[in-house]
Amino acid sequence: MRRVLFAIALIGAGGAALAAPPSDVLRVCADPENPPFSASDGGPHGAWIEVAEVLGARLGMRVEYTWWLTMYGRRAVRNTLLAETCDAYVGLPMDRGFLGKQVALTRPYLRVGYALVTPKDRPARQLQDLRGRRIAIAYNTPPQQFLAGQDGYEAVTYKSNEEAIAGLHRHEADAAFVWGPIAGWMNRTKLADGYQVVPQAGEGMQFQVTIGVRPANDELRRKLDEAIGASGTQIEAVARKYGFPVDDPMALPKSEFGPGTTIAIRPLPWLLAQAQAPASDAAPAAGGAAMVPVIAMPANGYSGKPESIAEGKSLFNQHCSHCHAPNAQSPILPRDLRRLKMRYGDKMTPVAWATIRGGRSDKGMPAWGEVIDIDTTLKIISFLETVQRDP
Ligand code: HEC
Repeated sequence: MRRVLFAIALIGAGGAALAAPPSDVLRVCADPENPPFSASDGGPHGAWIEVAEVLGARLGMRVEYTWWLTMYGRRAVRNTLLAETCDAYVGLPMDRGFLGKQVALTRPYLRVGYALVTPKDRPARQLQDLRGRRIAIAYNTPPQQFLAGQDGYEAVTYKSNEEAIAGLHRHEADAAFVWGPIAGWMNRTKLADGYQVVPQAGEGMQFQVTIGVRPANDELRRKLDEAIGASGTQIEAVARKYGFPVDDPMALPKSEFGPGTTIAIRPLPWLLAQAQAPASDAAPAAGGAAMVPVIAMPANGYSGKPESIAEGKSLFNQHCSHCHAPNAQSPILPRDLRRLKMRYGDKMTPVAWATIRGGRSDKGMPAWGEVIDIDTTLKIISFLETVQRDP
């Protein structure tokens, strides 16, 4: 069957430009080091690679790969898809704003996202069933920020999703709230399927995965759309083979800040890779729990300067107000930042600096040292100094 199609395709491609690939070849762009999605070592493998093979087979096309590390973002697309070294980028998030008009997207072929992981002998499908329990999370992920907006759960923070799952397995937590594909894959390959992995629905928790093509290549997009539409069962089988959770997501509880409060979501993980920025080299590798090194506080030249204070206020409201309330006036006492002076007296500024830069991961205060720069931190502190209440 494939051979027949091959012959027809060759005739069809007779007059094509020299550089164009033969139309029986599907040239896929993929990350060589992004298991369980795609990997080049020991031959192409991974869930997205298997999806590409399913689609290629359906279209009667042989799949060839162009490998490029995607960790550094858009450059990967520019150097592969847009440079025409390949024609179909597997594993892009369905977010049109993300790549703008440069890339056209197919219909989604799978949904992936964060999931609740519990031992099969003590299972829970919903976070609400785990009140009062310890939940393992990865540093700087939507679950960490979500739990920071909830009372009644004890967050145990790790440097990565893998470590959070390992922590659960060592009984350091009762559940893990982590990136579903990694949990599913670890469960299948390392944990003897001893865990239940249930997707969770909420802001920034679930993503549709698509294939990107060049906008001018609408014919390929149309073909892939058709192939995706016809391959649902096979694609789901691939997802199950890798342990990815395919059940409908369960609804998360509402934020305790009440309706209308949004949770800050870090940018969509590039290509849904590890769902997390690569761990900084400076972060300690051992020991599990996340820690961001804090450099000594420099002299604050912004302190007392009205213009910097106004800027600091606006920066605060932009980065911090969803947890600390606008203008730092949170009704929740430990988060009311007008009480720093009352609490720490002269030590207020160094405590604020250390807390903002390094976070208190056990309490749900994220570390900002790698997120906002030093000047921004100093301006925010100069603003906080102006809202202190008298003891
Ligand atoms: C995801 C929610 C969240 C965000 C966002 C957040 N914080 Fe916090 N922050 C907390 C929580 C929770 C605490 C309380 C920790 C505790 O109980 O010790 C805290 C504590 C603090 C403290 C120490 C308070 C004290 O009295 O010891 C400071 C200072 C602080 N945050 C500043 C900031 C600044 C500045 C930002 C923005 C750059 C920010 N926070 C963003 C949740 C958050």
